[in-house]
Amino acid sequence: MSQNAGLNRRSFLRNAGMTALVGAVGTGTSLTTAAEAAAFAPADHGKFDFDEVYNRVGTDSVKYDQQIRIYGKENVQVGMGIADMDFRCAPVITKALTDRMKHENWGYLDMPHSYIEGIVNWNKRRYGLDVNPDLLVLTNGVHPGLVAALKTFSPPGSKVLLNTPTYNGFYGDLTYTGTIPEENPLKLVNGRYSIDFEDFERRISHNTNTFILCNPQNPTGNCWSPEDLTRLGEICLRRRVVVLADEIHCDWVTKGNKYTPFASLPNKAIVDNSITFKAASKSFGLAAMKCAWFYSTNQDYLARVKANNKADLTTLGMIASKAAYAGGEDWLNQCVEYVDGNHDFVDSFIRANMPLVKTVKPQGTYLSWLDVSAVADKIGAKELAAEASKMQGASAKPLTPEQMVERHFVKRAKVHMNAGSTYGYGGQNHMRMNIATSRKTLELALNNLAAALKQNVGSLG
Ligand SMILES: Cc1ncc(COP(=O)(O)O)c(C=O)c1O
Repeated sequence: MSQNAGLNRRSFLRNAGMTALVGAVGTGTSLTTAAEAAAFAPADHGKFDFDEVYNRVGTDSVKYDQQIRIYGKENVQVGMGIADMDFRCAPVITKALTDRMKHENWGYLDMPHSYIEGIVNWNKRRYGLDVNPDLLVLTNGVHPGLVAALKTFSPPGSKVLLNTPTYNGFYGDLTYTGTIPEENPLKLVNGRYSIDFEDFERRISHNTNTFILCNPQNPTGNCWSPEDLTRLGEICLRRRVVVLADEIHCDWVTKGNKYTPFASLPNKAIVDNSITFKAASKSFGLAAMKCAWFYSTNQDYLARVKANNKADLTTLGMIASKAAYAGGEDWLNQCVEYVDGNHDFVDSFIRANMPLVKTVKPQGTYLSWLDVSAVADKIGAKELAAEASKMQGASAKPLTPEQMVERHFVKRAKVHMNAGSTYGYGGQNHMRMNIATSRKTLELALNNLAAALKQNVGSLG
């Protein structure tokens, strides 16, 4: 059998036939008009107030309430961990949800074509990308979509390529599917990460069937260039590795940078060897609404992944995503600009006030990737981790120095961030800081962190 027996297109076509896509969300019928969509969810215009400090405590949020449960209320003032935003969501979303709430019946949902139309229009308008609605599949999140794809192409025990450091959630998907990470470390040159293509190709073996691309890259913030993507795509095509392009952060691009959809590459064969996963959730702060979608120009791939994708969207999730795509663009553009200003603020604040921390403004995402090696040294994070691991007992997973830095910042600065060690190889000596919050909250967090770093180091207590 060839290394990618699971990808044998001809045998697949023989067995499944092209009718396999019946049930994909698009039907080829004409889409509803923009006017109809707008009537349902009028577009937001005007100036939005991202300076508002919007209190999320007490809503069972992972970013705040989970940390309070772990560390205690007195120790958590600012949550800068999990990748969601602190802003009040776009008014157009609240309006659409409120309108739907007035109808007090929550029976099974027949997916409206206007929702699919919104996704298609959004991609065309913002990225010039033609998404064929017949080749688009809805799912409950990028994770469920990725899991369906991994189950399709990567049998348990096989390897999945990752450019690391990368989004820690991918490791959970790999664990869930019994697959093994093959880490291709990014090279760090003058604070900017780049891909080591030779190493990438060297790591492909007889049982490497998939590569999870993260673009823009969480946590390093790279927006991969068309040349980067083409080179990765060419290697994957030649070595028969399917590209799973996670582009959930695509709307978060800082000034002067550009997001290139993998599916927009000019080489059709490269694009046909990929599936793209996206959602409105990261763009509009709708993570718990559980709506996402994936598409591919390759009908074989799509039909096979669809067969492993058991997903029904919730009514409220669909309403929120649909309203966002239909009328939220103005809000999003302003939000992206505001967060860009936050990035600049972080950059200059850290340079001026936190000599132990290094960072470079990212090209994309609302995440800052901080080099905290000097902090780790100062607090003796390695020794603390060894000590804490011993106390936990041999059966528990050993704690990392970065987790000690995480605890240090919670206890000394009341700021929670994510430990770099959870993002795979290359995450050592780093912390990930989520800056999608009001400037006032950001300032508070940075002042707390700077003050904590000026204190003498004592016991963590
Ligand atoms: C790169 C990336 N992919 C996927 C997800 C999660 O996607 P979902 O909530 O749609 O499953 C995240 C969330 O932070 C992410 O950063």
